[in-house]
Amino acid sequence: MNIPAEIKNLIEERQIAFSNTEKQVPLKGGFISANDYILTDALIALSLGKNVLLKGPTGSGKTKLAETLSNIFKQPMHSINCSVDMDAEALLGFKTIGQENGKNTIEFVPGPVIKAMNQGHLLYIDEINMAKPETLPILNSVLDYRRMVFNPFTGTVEKAINHFGVIAAINEGYIGTVPLNEALKNRFVVIEVPYVQGNTLKEVLSNESILKDNTKIEKFVMLSEDLITQVRNGQIPEEAASIRALIDTCDLATYMPPLRAVQRGIADKLEEEREKAAVMNIAQTLFV
Ligand SMILES: Nc1ncnc2c1ncn2[C@@H]1O[C@H](COP(=O)(O)OP(=O)(O)O)[C@@H](O)[C@H]1O
Ligand SMILES: [Mg+2]
Repeated sequence: MNIPAEIKNLIEERQIAFSNTEKQVPLKGGFISANDYILTDALIALSLGKNVLLKGPTGSGKTKLAETLSNIFKQPMHSINCSVDMDAEALLGFKTIGQENGKNTIEFVPGPVIKAMNQGHLLYIDEINMAKPETLPILNSVLDYRRMVFNPFTGTVEKAINHFGVIAAINEGYIGTVPLNEALKNRFVVIEVPYVQGNTLKEVLSNESILKDNTKIEKFVMLSEDLITQVRNGQIPEEAASIRALIDTCDLATYMPPLRAVQRGIADKLEEEREKAAVMNIAQTLFV
């Protein structure tokens, strides 16, 4: 990785700041960059205190990349999975009844946003465009230079400490998503995370799947390439080329004929008969 010296210093600063927390929380890594720039640019942006928006189809490694960044910085990460029913409580926290000296008291249980801000950790907001548009503006002041939020549950203003950082993920155009509000999008630096291909995909499959047969792995790499071509031609939906589904398929192919693995792992998840047939036709040219 080609990282400028000043950025290396900033990364080291974090690694030192979090050297104690590392032992408490297991940190995962393992993202393999499709080109030289995905991982390095994300590191540069976060080191400079920018919010990073990972943009890419389902199963392209966005969560894996966020985990890997957290691992490199040795900085724990708090996650939020956005959905239509996500509300302020899911982001900020909630009140509950506790006990103090035998008396009932109202306690505030901090949510992921406040936890990450108070400890200077990373915040991962997954599928940010699945949230209701009216919920997210709560985060505007968290995401800009103010780095703070008013907590309506306690009536206090929460401020982020040094090293606090935000990574969000978005799958644009996916069913159920809404276009991300401009004011929100404006606060992010965007990094595209496409499906990996060729030798990079081979490496991902070798690392992540239990399939150890090299010839078969190479065929699954070819299958992926053909599937992506069909996605571009509009013949099959994008999720048919998901790396997650491909890893599942490779796992199955360790113990069943590859064609049946493709059927179960990829084809039968699709809605239309025509799409299922398209996937199986491609697979039949590679596997017998
Ligand atoms: N570039 C990559 N490097 C490492 N693993 C990858 C990569 N792309 C996909 N994967 C694997 O594919 C699966 C799905 O990745 P994930 O990060 O959950 O995708 P997303 O969050 O984009 O939906 C995981 O098992 C992950 O390890
Ligand atoms: Mg994910």
